[in-house]
Amino acid sequence: MICLPHMIDAMNVHLRFPLLVTSCLFVFCLFSPCREVETAPADTPRITPERLRWWTDARFGMFIHYGPVTLTGEELSWSRANSNPQCPNKGPIPVEVYDNLYKKFNPADFKASDWTSVAKTAGMKYIVLTTKHCDGFLLWDSKVDGYNIMATPFSRDLTGELAVAARKDGLRLGWYFSPMDWRDPDFRTERNAAYLTRMQGELREVLSRYGKIDLLWFDYDGGKAVYDQAQTYALVKKLQPEIIINNRLDLSTQENEAMLNSNADYYTPEQRIGAYDDQRSWETCMTLGTQWAWKPKDTIKSASEVIGILARVTGGDGNLLLDVGPMPDGRIEPRQVDILQQVGSWMKLNGESIYGTRGGPWKPTTGIATTRKGRTVYVHILKWPDTVLTLPDISAKVVGAKLLNGGVLQARQTQSGIEISVDPSQRDGSDTVVVLSLDRDVMQIPALPIPPTVKKTSAAVNVTDQ
Ligand code: GLC
Repeated sequence: MICLPHMIDAMNVHLRFPLLVTSCLFVFCLFSPCREVETAPADTPRITPERLRWWTDARFGMFIHYGPVTLTGEELSWSRANSNPQCPNKGPIPVEVYDNLYKKFNPADFKASDWTSVAKTAGMKYIVLTTKHCDGFLLWDSKVDGYNIMATPFSRDLTGELAVAARKDGLRLGWYFSPMDWRDPDFRTERNAAYLTRMQGELREVLSRYGKIDLLWFDYDGGKAVYDQAQTYALVKKLQPEIIINNRLDLSTQENEAMLNSNADYYTPEQRIGAYDDQRSWETCMTLGTQWAWKPKDTIKSASEVIGILARVTGGDGNLLLDVGPMPDGRIEPRQVDILQQVGSWMKLNGESIYGTRGGPWKPTTGIATTRKGRTVYVHILKWPDTVLTLPDISAKVVGAKLLNGGVLQARQTQSGIEISVDPSQRDGSDTVVVLSLDRDVMQIPALPIPPTVKKTSAAVNVTDQ
C-alpha cells in the first residue's frame, strides 16, 4: 500500500480517509458485489491487441476533407447533383459544373508541413486524408484514373507531400478511401465489375506508393455494399499487413453501423460521442465546424467544447478523429488553427490523462469523464455539480489525490463513494483533471455508471449523447 501521509502532504492535498470508514469499506467489500465485480471477467475491459496499440494510445487524430469542391464552399461529394440513381447524393451543383471544378483548383498556399504542424501542435497523433471521396476525385498522381490532382493547375501530388511531412513530424498516417464512386457510370450497375477493377487499382496505388500506411478509413453511403469485400480486404492486407481498418467497407445501412466483421478493427460513430464500449474499439469522427469540407463563415466549436468532447470520447474508451476542411488556397483556416492551438495548450499540460489511457472506471456523463492507466484514475470534470462531486465507490482504495496541474483539492472515500471538491479558483475553465492514485491496478474493473446528479447544460454543435 502506498498511503504515505507525507507523500500526500507533499502533493499539497487535503485528503481524509477516516480509518473507520476505510475499514468498514474493506469489510463491506468482502461481502458485497465489489468482490463479484473482481471475479467477473466477462465485462472487464478487453486487452488491446498489439497491432492496434499505437492507435488506441494516440486517442486523438485529425481528419482532413479536401478536394476541388472546396472552391464552392459546399459539402464534399454530397453537393454534387445525382447522376446515378443508385447513389444517394442529390446536391445543388450540376454534374457538369461539379466535375469541372478541378480545372480551377489551385491550392497554391498548400504546404504539407503546415497541416502536419497544426495537427501536431493540437496534440493529435495521426492524420487521415480523403485521398478519394465519393465524388471520385483522386488527390494523388494516379495512373488508373486521370480525374486527379495532376490534372489541376496545382499539379502536385498532395497525398505524397503529406505522407512525407507526416513522417517528418512523427504522425501516423491514414487514408480515407471511398469505395463508392458516384461519378463512375458503371458503379452499382450491371457493369459493376468494371468499376471494381478500377477501384481496386486505385486502392493498390494509394497503398503501395507512399510507404507504410497505418490506417485505412473506408466510407459507406447507405447503398448496396458491392465492393468485392473478400478480395478488397485481401489486397489491402497484402500491401499493408499491419494496417488498421475501420468497419465501413461492410456497411450498407445505418442499422448495422457498429458491426465488426473479422477484417475490421473498429467502428465509427459519426458526429456524436460513442457510448462507453471497452470490448470493441471505436472512433468518433466529428467536424470542427458543421461541414466536412471547408465552409466559409462556418460555426466552429470552441477549444473548450473540443476538449470536453475528447475527454468524453476517451472516457468512453474511444478515439476522436476531428475533422478540418482546408480552404481552397490550401491553408487551414486561421480561426480553426487558433482553436486547435488552444486545444494543444491544454493537451500539453493534461495529455497524460488522455494518451495511453483506457476509458473508465466510471462511464462518462455530459459533465464527468474518467480515464485510467495502471493504478491511476484521471477524473475529468467538465461541469461542476452544485455540491461536492461524488463518484460511486469502486473496489480499490484511494491512496492519493491531486490536481493534474497543481493546486488544492479535497477528496475522501466514504461508504457513499469518492467525494471530490475543488475551489472554483483552482478549476480549469474547460476540464479540471483530478488524479486519483489507487492501491491496486484498476484496469480490469468493469465500468460503473455515474448516477445523474450533475446538471446538464447545452451541448456543442453536432454533439449528442447516446
Ligand atoms: C459521412 C459523410 C462523408 C464523410 C464521412 C466522414 O459518411 O457522408 O461525406 O466523409 O461521414 O465520417
